[in-house]
Formats: sequence, C-alpha cells, structure tokens
Amino acid sequence: MSQSQFVSKCTTDALQLAATTLLHGNLVAFPTETVYGLGADALNKQAVARIYETKGRPSDHPLIVHLHSMQVMGQWVEDVPEYAIALARDFWPGPMTLIFKRSTLAQDFITGGQNTVGIRVPDHVVALALLEAFHTLGGRGIAAPSANRFGHVSPTTAQAVSEELSEYLKSEDQILDGGACTVGVESTIIDCTGPAPRILRPGGITIEMIKESTGLLPLQSVDSKEEIRVSGSLEKHYAPAAKVILDAKPIAGQGFIALTESKTPDGVIRLAEPKNVAEFARDLYATLRKADEMGLAEVVVEQPQGDGLAIAIRDRLERASKGR
Ligand code: TXA
Ligand code: MG
Repeated sequence: MSQSQFVSKCTTDALQLAATTLLHGNLVAFPTETVYGLGADALNKQAVARIYETKGRPSDHPLIVHLHSMQVMGQWVEDVPEYAIALARDFWPGPMTLIFKRSTLAQDFITGGQNTVGIRVPDHVVALALLEAFHTLGGRGIAAPSANRFGHVSPTTAQAVSEELSEYLKSEDQILDGGACTVGVESTIIDCTGPAPRILRPGGITIEMIKESTGLLPLQSVDSKEEIRVSGSLEKHYAPAAKVILDAKPIAGQGFIALTESKTPDGVIRLAEPKNVAEFARDLYATLRKADEMGLAEVVVEQPQGDGLAIAIRDRLERASKGR
C-alpha cells in the first residue's frame, strides 16, 4: 500500500467521512495544535485495541479522551475541583490535558485499569471539526495518543504520521492533513485529583499560567516507581534513531540544533536555528526527523534556558538523549 493513500485534505466531505469511519471502529489520525493524534472511538474496545497494535504500545498505558467542548466532560469524569474548572475555562481549547477520577464511561481499555481518565479539548480547527462531526453522529469522545510508534518522536505533519504508521493501517483508516502543528510539543498534563493541580508532563500551558489561572502553586511530579503509567514519563522516549547529545560543543559531521544566536562551527551540519523558544518547540520534532532522513549518527542540541515552554523542550530532549 502506498503511504499517501491514507492522507486526505480536510474538506467538509473528508471530515464527515472521517467521523463516520471512526464510528465504524476504524482509526483516523488528525492534527492538533501540539502533535498529530491517532484517534479511535473511545467507547469501542476493538478500535482502541487497534491503537495499541498500530503504535506497538503496551496496553496498560492510558489514553487521553479528546472532546469538542468542556460542556460534555461531565459524562467522562467525577469530582471536578474548582481549580480545574478555572483551568478548563482559561486554557481549553488548548495544549492541556486534565486528569480526573473517571466515570463508568471511561472503561479499563482507555484508562489502563486506573481509576482516572485524561481529558483534552484541542485547539485546532480540523480536530475540533472532526470532534464536532463525531459528536453529531452520536460519538462520545475520541481516544488519541500521539500518532507515532511507541518510543519514537511524535509526528507534527501528516507526512510524518504516514511514514510512521502507514504500514500498520487498514484501507478504511484515514490520515487528515491539517498542515504542520503550531505548538510542536505534547500537551501539559495536569493531575486534578488532589487539593492542588499537579503537573505530570510539562507543555505549552506553563507553571506561571496555571498559577495565574487557579491562584494555586502547582506541584511538580516527582519521579517514583509508583508514578502512574504516563508513557511520556518513561525515561527513554521521544527518541530519533540518531543519538541526541545535549549541550556539548558540536564537531564536524554532527548535526546541530540551537537558537539562532549560536554560531555553527566548521563542518557541523546546522539543522535548525529557531529565533525563539516557541519556534524551537514548533520545529524540534520535524528537525529530529530530518536528522534521521539525512542518516546522521549524532545530533547536538543546545537547549533553550529559562521557564515556560523551555521546560517542556528540555523534558523531551532529556528523554530523547537516552535513546530508543
Ligand atoms: O498533546 C497531546 O497530549 C497529544 C495530542 C494528540 O493530544 N497526545 C498525546 O498522547 O501526547 P500520548 O498518549 O502520546 O501521551 C499522553 C500521556 C501518556 O503518557 C499517558 O500515559 C498519559 O498521557 N495519560 C493518559 N491518561 C492518563 C491518566 N489517567 N493518568 C495519568 N496519565 C495519563
Ligand atoms: Mg506519545
């Protein structure tokens, strides 16, 4: 099967077809503002099982349920604290996933058997149009992890999804092409089951934004063995085939990613020179993929310093540097 046969432009017809396809138990990869997701009907056990097969992901890793609006969140969750309502109002649609105690709608095959469920309203016209069309057809939510093979770099274009997953897709599955993702790193995951928000995965919604919205100081997740199965929290993750080396002086033949003010030493292959941290995040995964396409053995990354999105970038790079 040729790779591109799954990819379609997001016409109204294509979106309608994609929503129907989902309801029939097939998979649809779709763009969000963070990364592309691999979607299935969150109530369909067989369809969700195909997500795990297609990604090669262990089945006890929970999935995020994507919704078109926070208004329908009540079906999926129980015990929503006030601070979570503030977060949802302020940052949805947006790059944020909230974890709540689950309702009976969120079955074990979504939550990996945990008593909690992750919910996100993405900020992307195509994702929202798909979610709305699915809702109109009677669907309750779309379960979607990032549309990459387990442990690999998340895809930020439809082409990257196609390269990762086409060989595992079936003819009824679809990849919706909504262009390149604008945020570029996965959503901030916030555990809302305690008295204060707790950040499980840093992302586009930063500590400062959470503080400002809730008036509470968010806790930072501590790495412990018991720490829930947040697959993105595994040490080795988000990794390209090339070895990622952090904050070293690059030498000839190595790839190099750094903010634009850093010079490129002789013989070093400059892969990207983002102007600011937002651009760094937006282009990071595509650049790591480019390094693999070029067959580079090693990529040196000079990490952006400071707070905000830079924390999310350093989190992913730290894991990418541990290899596959
Ligand atoms: O930006 C994103 O969040 C993207 C787009 C597609 O929405 N999705 C994404 O999904 O990154 P995934 O599955 O690749 O990463 C979601 C992370 C996983 O590490 C999963 O273990 C964690 O969220 N997660 C999901 N439900 C959870 C829960 N109930 N408790 C703790 N962690 C959870
Ligand atoms: Mg992922």
